[in-house]
Amino acid sequence: MSMPATLDAYMTSRGALVDAELRILLAGRKEEPKTIVKAMSYSIFAGGKRLRPVLVMAAAECCGLAARRTVKTACALEMIHTYSLIHDDLPAMDDDDLRRGKPTNHKVFGEAMAILAGDGLLTYAFEAAAANAAQLKLDGKAAAELIRIVALGAGTQGMVGGQVADLEAEGWKSKNHGFNPKKALEYIHLHKTAALIIASLEAGAVLAGGTPRQRKNLRSYGEAIGLAFQIADDILDVVGDKKKLGKKGSDAQNDKLTYARLYGIDASRKLAADLISKAHLLLAPFGAKAKPLHDLADYIIARDK
Ligand code: IPE
Ligand code: IPE
Ligand code: MG
Ligand code: MG
Ligand code: MG
Repeated sequence: MSMPATLDAYMTSRGALVDAELRILLAGRKEEPKTIVKAMSYSIFAGGKRLRPVLVMAAAECCGLAARRTVKTACALEMIHTYSLIHDDLPAMDDDDLRRGKPTNHKVFGEAMAILAGDGLLTYAFEAAAANAAQLKLDGKAAAELIRIVALGAGTQGMVGGQVADLEAEGWKSKNHGFNPKKALEYIHLHKTAALIIASLEAGAVLAGGTPRQRKNLRSYGEAIGLAFQIADDILDVVGDKKKLGKKGSDAQNDKLTYARLYGIDASRKLAADLISKAHLLLAPFGAKAKPLHDLADYIIARDK
């Protein structure tokens, strides 16, 4: 599905803010070894959809703060996401050689530099988020909350924890009776993918001084679209056009536990669609301001890349 024109315009304008700031942030690394800056920039500018930074901005706008004022935090979430992809593709993990339509980071820069590029992006993200808090003159409590949200989304309670469970579930068909594939799969997707999506939304809300109720609704919305996003990714791994996706799909080869492989394509589509209906309901309190979040929810399961 091509994107509806209003969402296309929204993602293009917000994405342009993010890209311009990422250029500035990475250009500011002049004093550092050139190799690491090149390796980080290579994956950052390889052409991602910029979903997570756009979610930071859309959540902030829902809570009354202009998108441009959140741009450094938006970049932080994109840096963490990009680091997660660089490491996800390593031979020790999914062992993929194509990402965002280009050879994976380790294919170009070698495994050691790809690991360090990921480390560099993860660390830089916190510097950028902290700079955003200072720029907005957030009080100490709000600034600490912002950093905590990003750390929880990225760490062992979030994305990293999900990646661990994802690796441990490989070869799931031959696991013993104690292993519950449905439960394990939901855990994997809520952590490896939904956690950073939730953190993006909550970070936007904290920057904007959103109320506890607004934050709660955005969290639940994030949980629903985050899970649906990874279900769609699992489906695309099987039926997607590899050229459009810019990656080859390695789930069957790695014997991954995925929605497509456990439930089948049709049942997976139905589960994802139900999650998106739930997501829409959670946006009701935001009224017309939530239009981009409504459109993003629909796009997440209709996308072809
Ligand atoms: C890919 O994320 C990894 C998952 C969590 C499924 P995206 O599909 O958002 O990848 P980019 O950022 O557009 O490359
Ligand atoms: C990865 O899930 C989620 C991350 C935290 C990077 P996948 O392994 O399915 O992502 P792709 O398909 O390689 O993008
Ligand atoms: Mg993976
Ligand atoms: Mg992968
Ligand atoms: Mg995948």
